[in-house]
Amino acid sequence: MTMDFTDRLTRVEPSATLAISALATELENEGADVVDLSVGEPDFPTPENIVEAGKAAMDAGHTGYTTSAGIIELREAISEKLADDGLDHGPEEIIVTPGAKQALYEIVQALVEDGDEVVLLDPAWVSYEAMVKMAGGDLTRVDLSETDFQLEPALDDLADAVSDETELLVVNSPSNPTGAVYSDAALEGVRDLAVEHDVTVISDEIYKEITYGVEQTSLGTLEGMADRTVTVNGFSKAYSMTGWRLGYFAGPEDLIDQAGKLHSHSVSSAANFVQHAGVEALENTDEAVEEMVAAFEERRDLVVDLLDDHGVDVAVPDGAFYMMLPVDDSEALRASDDASGDQPRADDQAWCEGALEDAHVATVPGSAFGTPGYARISYAASEERLEEGIERLAEEGYL
Ligand SMILES: Cc1ncc(COP(=O)(O)O)c(C=O)c1O
Repeated sequence: MTMDFTDRLTRVEPSATLAISALATELENEGADVVDLSVGEPDFPTPENIVEAGKAAMDAGHTGYTTSAGIIELREAISEKLADDGLDHGPEEIIVTPGAKQALYEIVQALVEDGDEVVLLDPAWVSYEAMVKMAGGDLTRVDLSETDFQLEPALDDLADAVSDETELLVVNSPSNPTGAVYSDAALEGVRDLAVEHDVTVISDEIYKEITYGVEQTSLGTLEGMADRTVTVNGFSKAYSMTGWRLGYFAGPEDLIDQAGKLHSHSVSSAANFVQHAGVEALENTDEAVEEMVAAFEERRDLVVDLLDDHGVDVAVPDGAFYMMLPVDDSEALRASDDASGDQPRADDQAWCEGALEDAHVATVPGSAFGTPGYARISYAASEERLEEGIERLAEEGYL
């Protein structure tokens, strides 16, 4: 039998990162030592106090369903955390989700329908595009690669992209994949456009806690933004809790009511004991977070210095644990172009595949994020592995 799949799924491309991870697994199965700089998760264990709180919650019998929006203790703790960020959302304006990804999915489903226009800032995290397409929306993309991935110098381009037709704008600062933290002036520019054209904005703040010497202002704190911003955050990155699946969103109550229907009819709730561990994370883990952030900052500096030693300039990230490596003029890419007899091209997919095959270093092609000509490096790896990875890339002519 041939199954008849829905348009909303068949129009979504499989993730471009899959080819790279499949190849990496194949190489590892053959015994190769792959330096994996492609991962989107911290390499630290979840802090012990959080693990203990999760276990204690299980022992205490917190293993049944919870209120769909999440246990009140956690929503209150989130409300307090958001208040520290300058945002005013009571527990009734918060939904706890199994990961921030589910939060984003629910918001997009609540707001976007066939033909609605959604604006993304490129390079953009891979799942925004898929989520918008699944909802039937059309994408308008603003390229930040000419401005060192900063938004402020590209505000005119954003103004060209946003119109009265725009339904939704997605802002992710600090950004995956660039690590850029947008300036307050950039966020004010977003605010002016959102207010002028009556646009709802998702502020994906999942990397907010991971910044180096700068602070990321929450978009919803800007005048005029409280009732048009949906703030998304989660526990995966700041608390190294990717596998626990815990995130949340906060926004105006009517959005919470609508998205809450999708939430209750799909996931029901996030796991009960995981939510209890989330309370512990928010209330007692500041020191462990600081230590992880300090380690990421040292690794960022290390990678920037090593690349500089090899004559490669990158836009230095102020947050998250990623950076974009320009790969257009790598020796290896030119050699493969010469061999093919084609005109030189910015084929970041070929660069990433080659880097994996020849140097056994895994990265993610920029085209997966809408920006060809780059590879995303994750520096959520030990200093030793980072040094090894950069050294191998240099030796094989990839820098
Ligand atoms: C920008 C961004 N938003 C959201 C997520 C989702 O995180 P999670 O579902 O693990 O909370 C990620 C994960 O990689 C991300 O990079």
